[in-house]
Formats: sequence, structure tokens, C-alpha cells
Amino acid sequence: MANNAAAHIRVLIVDDFAETRENIRKLLQFESDIDVVGMARTGREGIALAKETKPNVVLMDINMPDMDGIQATEIITKEVPIAQIVIVSVQSDTDYLRRAMLAGARDFLSKPPPADEMINTIRRLGEMSRQREALLASQPALSGPGGGARGRGGKVIAVFSPKGGAGCTTLVTNLAMALKSGDNKVMVVDANIQFGDVGVFLNLQGKFNLVSLTERADEIDEEWLQSVLTNHTASGVKVLLAPPTPEDAELVGAGQLKKVLESLREYYDYILVDTASVLRDVELTVFDVADRVVLVATPDIPSLANIKKFFDLIEKLEFPPEKMLLILNRVDRRGGITAANVEETLKHTVRGQILLDDKTVLASINSGVPFILSPNARQLAPVPGIFELAQRLKDDFNPKETAPAADDKGRKAPAKQSSLFARR
Ligand SMILES: Nc1ncnc2c1ncn2[C@@H]1O[C@H](COP(=O)(O)OP(=O)(O)OP(=O)(O)O)[C@@H](O)[C@H]1O
Ligand SMILES: [Mg+2]
Repeated sequence: MANNAAAHIRVLIVDDFAETRENIRKLLQFESDIDVVGMARTGREGIALAKETKPNVVLMDINMPDMDGIQATEIITKEVPIAQIVIVSVQSDTDYLRRAMLAGARDFLSKPPPADEMINTIRRLGEMSRQREALLASQPALSGPGGGARGRGGKVIAVFSPKGGAGCTTLVTNLAMALKSGDNKVMVVDANIQFGDVGVFLNLQGKFNLVSLTERADEIDEEWLQSVLTNHTASGVKVLLAPPTPEDAELVGAGQLKKVLESLREYYDYILVDTASVLRDVELTVFDVADRVVLVATPDIPSLANIKKFFDLIEKLEFPPEKMLLILNRVDRRGGITAANVEETLKHTVRGQILLDDKTVLASINSGVPFILSPNARQLAPVPGIFELAQRLKDDFNPKETAPAADDKGRKAPAKQSSLFARR
């Protein structure tokens, strides 16, 4: 079989309708260069069969019971890098197609697929699969389990404020969208374990949450991870929701959370972590794991007083100061405490500013749509500050000429009299 069969294009059909699978199989049976090597009824079954049969081409339905074709596509492209995926669906709206392409699909056929078009597509993609196979064979490092997806070396970015209501969740949700671009992978972990509301901010609900991962912290793999994360369709950002009730917070141990965050680095480029405004083992662990902690202050005395206490504490704990990115949220263009005042008082550089805009932010939270995704986002006051912060983080992690992170240590704000707290 080996020689002859090796030249054949191996095709896997994934569709929940027996009739559709059978019709496609019959259409392909007369093509001497095409072998149907498997037929699966669900996304999960499709993944298992793809791993087992290593198809060149997968014909993938979108709507299926346990896992949809888009998620399955995402996993198969990682686990079986030679597989080229064609979405075969009645769903032809552009949002679905865009998501399918982002997940790694190569082409789209409408249902029922016209025979000629399907066969041509299979041959074309079969050829691409061969080329990919040859490339992988010449680069052994890429052909290990999970292909290039293992060890992405993702960056964990925690967002914290020692005072509640400073805007952490607003920032996390919008910053995630600002960091998402092209084919990078961005996710949000809601580690505000008692009162997490990322799901509310993004209008998302899901069966699974942080507890689902922490209780299996030692066994995280891509497939399990994908079924536990909730997809934010409009952006492609994935979300690990907070435990559903405050009591469930007890189930999240700091040690397990650490393992979860470390594992997520393998699969995501940016892991944004929302936190509660308290300091327990969980928060300290998040800071410990994080590559950057975005410290959110608002320009008012109570917030700055708490930030000052926080800086004093982390100094005692010998926490690396270069991890900290102090930013000001709710900055009022019309006046009030300025970044320069804050720097003078806290002796720390303000690394970003987000403008105040009550109407925009409130409307966005109440509608569950981050304002950064609004059609008129460019005109919204808080948007530029968020994009600048996203860019700063990207530059910090991928320094071009100089490493911007270095200036936190070296460049402190001028050591003048602490003017803001002087009033007390
Ligand atoms: N730039 C901004 N301009 C105007 N209002 C803002 C801005 N950022 C946040 N807010 C408002 O501040 C409130 C608190 O925001 P958010 O829930 O994001 O803060 P948080 O730090 O996550 O709070 P919590 O302590 O409850 O977790 C919200 O009502 C939001 O509308
Ligand atoms: Mg919050």
C-alpha cells in the first residue's frame, strides 16, 4: 500500500449529518488520487480522528453539537500541522468566515459543495499539505507534538489597583482587544475570584470558569483548554471566566493558579489577568508570575494614597520594580491632578494615561461591548491611551533598538516635596 497510497490525498470529513458525510464520500470515491481516511460526527471526534489519521485535507462543518468547527479547526491546525482545513457550511456570513480563517482554515465551500469545486480545492490543498509536510520534515524542531504552538513564551500582564473601582476591568477588556491583531493569541483571565465581572463587561456566559482549570492544573492540554475558554466572537479574544459565585473563590488555590498561568504561556501570546483590589496569596501569586503589573491609579487623593502604600509594600517585599507600570485612568482634560503631580508625589513614572469619558465607558459596560470596538472608536477619548499602552507593552516585550523597560529603574520622577499629600 505504502507507495501508491502515499501519493494519495488523505481526506477527513467532519459533519454531524450522516447524509452529508455519505454524500461527500460518494462524490470522492471515484477520484483515484483521493482517499477518505475518516468520517467524524463532531468537532471533538474530528480532532481525535485527525490526530490518528493525519489527513492532508479536512472538510469541516461549522455547527456541530459538542465543539464547533471553528474551535476544532483551531486545534487541528496546531496538533496536525500538515492538515489543510476547508470549511463546508451553509453559514456564509463574513463573521463566520473571518473567524474560520483566523482559526487557520484555508478555504470555504458552500453546502452542498459542488463536486468539481470540491475536488479542485482538495487537490490544491493536498499539494499545499505535501509542501508543508516536506518543510516540517526538514525542520525537525517544528514537527514535535503541538507543532510550533508549544512554548509560545506568552506574556502575563496583570492589571491591579489597590483601590476598587479604578477601572481595572474596563482596562483589561479593552486592552485585550487592542493587543489582539492578525494571528496573535490573546486571552483574559478573570482572577477577581470573588466578584469577577469580565463576563458581564464582554456579555459572555460559559459553562466553564477558572475553577475548571485550577482543579485540573496539572493536566492542561490544548483541547481541554479550548473547551474551558469562552470565545469573544467579535474580537477572537478568549476568556477564562471568574468562578460563578463568591463561595467558589475558595476553590481557587494560589499554587494551582500559578500552574494555570504558567501553562497558558504555552498557548497564548498575551494573557491579561484582571484582579481584585485586595492582597491575598492569589494576588501576590499573580504578581509573581506576571511579566508586567499594570497598576491603575485614578487622579484623586484616596487612590494615590493607596498606590503609595502599595509601592511601600512591594519595596519591602523586594518585588522587582521594573515589572510595574503605573498608569492613570479617568484623567480629566479639564483639570485636576496631573500626571506630573502624581510623579512628583509618588516618585514613580506614569507610563500611560487614559482619559475620563463617563458616557462612553458606562454605555460600553452596560451594553457588554468594549468601547475600543465601537465603529467610532478613534474619536473616543479613552481609546488612544489604551492603544498607546498596548504598544508600550508590545515594545517592552519585543524591544527594537533599546529596551524601554530599563527606564523604570533609572528614570524616577524628580524628588521634590510630596505636594499632593502635603495637604494632610
Ligand atoms: N476612563 C474612564 N472614564 C470614565 N469612567 C470610567 C473610566 N474607566 C472606568 N470608568 C468607570 O469606573 C467604574 C469602575 O470601572 P471598573 O469596573 O472597570 O473598575 P474595577 O477597578 O475593575 O472595579 P472593581 O474594583 O469593581 O473590580 C465603572 O463604572 C466605569 O464606568
Ligand atoms: Mg473589576
